Amino acid sequence: MANNTFLPVSLLVVSMLGCPSAIAGDSAEVVDNLSEFETALKLTADLENGRKLYKMCVACHGPEGWGDSNGSYPQIAGQLPGVIIKQLADIRAGNRDNPIMRAFTTVRALGGAQEIADVAGYIAALPMTQYNGLGNSRNLEQGKEIYQRDCADCHGYNGEGDAKKHVPVIHGQHYRYLERQYAWIRSGLRRNSNKEMVKQIQGYSLREEDAVLSYTASLLPPEEKLAEPDWKNPDFPNYHRSWTPDPVRDRRGSYR
Ligand code: HEC
Ligand code: HEC
Repeated sequence: MANNTFLPVSLLVVSMLGCPSAIAGDSAEVVDNLSEFETALKLTADLENGRKLYKMCVACHGPEGWGDSNGSYPQIAGQLPGVIIKQLADIRAGNRDNPIMRAFTTVRALGGAQEIADVAGYIAALPMTQYNGLGNSRNLEQGKEIYQRDCADCHGYNGEGDAKKHVPVIHGQHYRYLERQYAWIRSGLRRNSNKEMVKQIQGYSLREEDAVLSYTASLLPPEEKLAEPDWKNPDFPNYHRSWTPDPVRDRRGSYR
């Protein structure tokens, strides 16, 4: 869990950010998320401080960062640090709605660019659960075809994301969370979305959409990113997550 370095920002990233000043909330907290994002990306994460900051996140994301298989909270463990930084900066600046979490991302609660980098580094280094919530098992073949044709260029063939372009890791993600984000991206509700992706995903039928998202949720993170099934984060010995991954139920039984 050491030596997390962040890639310098490319121009591509800047152009992906859209309008950084859109709809910022309480004026005392307005931050220019573009410069904050760029600054945070260049900093080296202090993982010990990241652990302290992550205490604020545990109640919702769980000590392991695995979220909830019903998709109310995403798995954030193992996400690319640059993606976590961008999402935090976007949520804080009001480019991505997250009323439940926003209070925890303010300057007052979380701090500045260094703190964002620290907590992102900590989360990125957490091992992932492989027992994420799954979708529909019926159309996985069709989903695979669509995924490889339309999504893999950006998100990677195994959903591993792209650190240079800040494309999120989407393997190991809960189906219901994928479904919600996807709908918000398509409808423009998630304002920080990648414009090309928005264009790309218009025009699928419901069945195609379900197929591609079910296939995405079925993508397994690579062995080296996975936790033992009963792993508990030793940094938070006093927290107990409400959802205990059950290999049988979560890997097979949660197919609709
Ligand atoms: C009160 C509950 C709550 C707390 C506390 C909370 N979060 Fe969240 N977080 C959420 C919810 C809910 C979502 C998903 C929102 C959505 O569906 O768009 C989320 C989404 C995220 C995402 C985006 C994930 C993705 O795949 O795009 C990141 C990153 C994140 N949280 C990090 C944090 C960090 C870091 C903290 C602590 C500083 C934190 N959260 C505290 C509820 C919370
Ligand atoms: C042109 C590149 C591109 C293509 C093609 C693309 N995406 Fe994305 N996708 C992105 C980027 C960049 C983001 C992050 C946007 C942001 O910052 O919020 C994203 C975000 C997402 C998210 C939200 C992830 C999260 O953790 O919140 C999902 C789900 C997703 N994409 C699924 C798909 C699927 C499924 C396809 C194919 C049907 C697809 N994407 C095609 C670039 C792409």
